[in-house]
Amino acid sequence: MSRRVLVVGSGGREHAIIRQLAISEQKPILFCLPGNPGTAQSATNVDLDMMDFDAVVSFCKSEAIDLVIIGPEDPLIKGMGDNLHKEGINVFGPGAMGARLEGDKEFSKEVLASAGVPTARYQAFSSSHAALKHLDTVTLPVVIKACGAAQGKGVAVCSNREEAEVFIRSCLDDQQFGGAGLRILMEECLFGPELSVLIVTDGQDYCLLAPSRDHKRIGEGDVGPNTGGMGAFAPVNLDPEMYGEIDTRIVLPVLAELRRRDIPYCGVLYVGLMLTESGPQVLEFNTRFGDPETQVVLPLLRVDFLEMCYSTATGRLSDFLQGIHEVDEVMPNNWPGAGASSWLRKAVVVVGASDGYPGQYIKGRPIELPQCNGDDCWVIHAGTTLDDGGKLVTDGGRVLGAVGSGLTLSLAKESAYKMLDSTHFEGLIYRRDIGISGEK
Ligand code: AMP
Ligand code: GLY
Repeated sequence: MSRRVLVVGSGGREHAIIRQLAISEQKPILFCLPGNPGTAQSATNVDLDMMDFDAVVSFCKSEAIDLVIIGPEDPLIKGMGDNLHKEGINVFGPGAMGARLEGDKEFSKEVLASAGVPTARYQAFSSSHAALKHLDTVTLPVVIKACGAAQGKGVAVCSNREEAEVFIRSCLDDQQFGGAGLRILMEECLFGPELSVLIVTDGQDYCLLAPSRDHKRIGEGDVGPNTGGMGAFAPVNLDPEMYGEIDTRIVLPVLAELRRRDIPYCGVLYVGLMLTESGPQVLEFNTRFGDPETQVVLPLLRVDFLEMCYSTATGRLSDFLQGIHEVDEVMPNNWPGAGASSWLRKAVVVVGASDGYPGQYIKGRPIELPQCNGDDCWVIHAGTTLDDGGKLVTDGGRVLGAVGSGLTLSLAKESAYKMLDSTHFEGLIYRRDIGISGEK
């Protein structure tokens, strides 16, 4: 009998997850809660409030759901995983204890310190007076972060004192991020290329997906404010010894520290790294798939994604890993689970956003999608919806992602940009330089 899978969320990440599940040979029956017009192409969208956990549990029971994959951080941090688990429902995604790694940046720093994993030096503050006083003693640029989850907008890399002061006051005095910004970290600024590493783990075994690179700033050349992510590509070519270094200096100690603290972790742990001159350092944890990284990492999988998630959720990841036959000549041999991904192909996603994002933007603008939808290019819906007349319109800051894939990064980029050039909606903006730093 076909497995029945529920994906929670409504963004580009969830459309990418649904798309990957839909190509499984197991032909699963898919639901997305609440989903978007993209997920509706292969799944039944479920009109429920995802934060109403009782309603989600009831839905899973009445629809005999075999597996729930939780996309966004909010339900994870609030304990949706625990609620489902308690009811005997298989869930891919950590409970509240594990999700604290994303929901509380000060806690994640403590975990990193006790694991002996390199990360930027920091101090935490709850009062703007103390924070501003400390600001006098730091070297600029300095990074200021809201401790709680703030939709990717709670971090400012401040090159001068004025910017830092404004951000500190907006968190601690004006409460721009609500409770998420009532405590802040003031962090040493690190330099180097960034890397997103997705660890799939059932708490015992783990598998690393292809490393990817997000482009977080709104502007070309990495200028302007941080966003949720304006584009990404994978795999990122690293120096051969770097793969092993990431595994031994970062991944292994972090997973060991979680076990030492009895923090159960089942799902994906996203580690955001800065590859500094003195080695990789951790910038952040997310306790879910990255957005837009998922849009490029999943299409590179050579294994059945549904089986990967199901084995993880049922604590049998080791059985699944034994079934991976590592045959790609170019894959790194010191990247556990490397055989799960193709290293011969490249994938690029370029995000089409609404003018004004990450600040204010207008919703409800009609969207004209490109024709190209095939094996080497496709559109991932993020902030889209249908209006009363059933027409596709914009409904968010990051509206869609154009994904291109090919044997080289240039071919993948060409496909993605060709699609964006024939995508139309009023106020469409996108970065022209996604993937430039990955040309090798
Ligand atoms: P986070 O949500 O903590 O990853 O921060 C979002 C983005 O801010 C990262 O992807 C980096 O681009 C930047 N960032 C965070 N921490 C630092 C740091 N210590 N040094 C330099 N840039 C940082
Ligand atoms: N792309 C960064 C994130 O998912 O938080």
